[in-house]
Amino acid sequence: MERFNDQVVMITGAASGIGKATALLFLEENARVVAVDIDRTGLDTLLEEIPETKHERVLPMVADVVHLDQVEQMVHRVVQQWGRVDVLFNNAGIEETDSITNTTEAMWDRQITVNLKSIFACSKFVIPLMQEAGHGAIVNTASIEGVVAEPRGAAYVASKGGIVMLTKEMALSYATDNIRVNCVCPGWIDTPMARRSIDKHGGLEMMMPEIQRLQPLGRLGTPQEVAKAVLFLASEDASFITGTALMVDGGYTAQ
Ligand SMILES: NC(=O)c1ccc[n+]([C@@H]2O[C@H](COP(=O)([O-])OP(=O)(O)OC[C@H]3O[C@@H](n4cnc5c(N)ncnc54)[C@H](O)[C@@H]3O)[C@@H](O)[C@H]2O)c1
Repeated sequence: MERFNDQVVMITGAASGIGKATALLFLEENARVVAVDIDRTGLDTLLEEIPETKHERVLPMVADVVHLDQVEQMVHRVVQQWGRVDVLFNNAGIEETDSITNTTEAMWDRQITVNLKSIFACSKFVIPLMQEAGHGAIVNTASIEGVVAEPRGAAYVASKGGIVMLTKEMALSYATDNIRVNCVCPGWIDTPMARRSIDKHGGLEMMMPEIQRLQPLGRLGTPQEVAKAVLFLASEDASFITGTALMVDGGYTAQ
């Protein structure tokens, strides 16, 4: 299946976890991928995993997506190289969070900035290109924690709730430009981010009963399972879907 033949897809947080799996899946469907991450080594590793025949379809970009000047330069470079952006996957994120009383101002600012402001920054420079082209699809990575809270997650939960609502606002603002905007809400997905959190809570074996209770399908999701949902939302298969939050959570939010 090649739903994205030659389309230009920009992915933030592409060096690891969900972003990386999504980059690889878009390449399988013959897209051209702008792989954006703050982690240069991670991007090098991603390239090593991509067959050499596909290297000309990948534009790795080291950038901190919270800085508007860096994002503007990056988008300028993409336009020089490939002329347009058909799909934007706003996925970069961090989870360094606690209850309000245990959260420093620096933690709060960093969490909200990386998870939420990055979507503002990237969308601000990519949407005009989509408007000019007359079409576009944007997918944001929110979380189940955008719709249900958990204790000791103040800034993370606030950022993800913000993403769900920002997704709806963007969908409304740009519908007449033929730009669709949706988000995915992953549950516990087996990525380096989730593993760091699981390790903090005593390791996978200890956490598994809790994960099975929370996710009725009884396991961690895979980054590929989220990637498939992202490609669906970005594709013409979702041509009448905009402003939605798609749960990819093994049933977490059904309970
Ligand atoms: N793994 C889960 O269980 C889970 C669940 C729900 C939501 N999410 C969300 O999915 C997204 C991806 O998470 P993941 O689990 O793949 O994590 P990950 O840590 O494996 O990957 C995140 C990537 O984002 C990059 N990044 C972080 N800050 C950046 C910045 N300022 N500029 C550019 N790149 C930056 C990191 O370098 C990393 O490569 C995040 O938004 C996360 O909140 C993850």
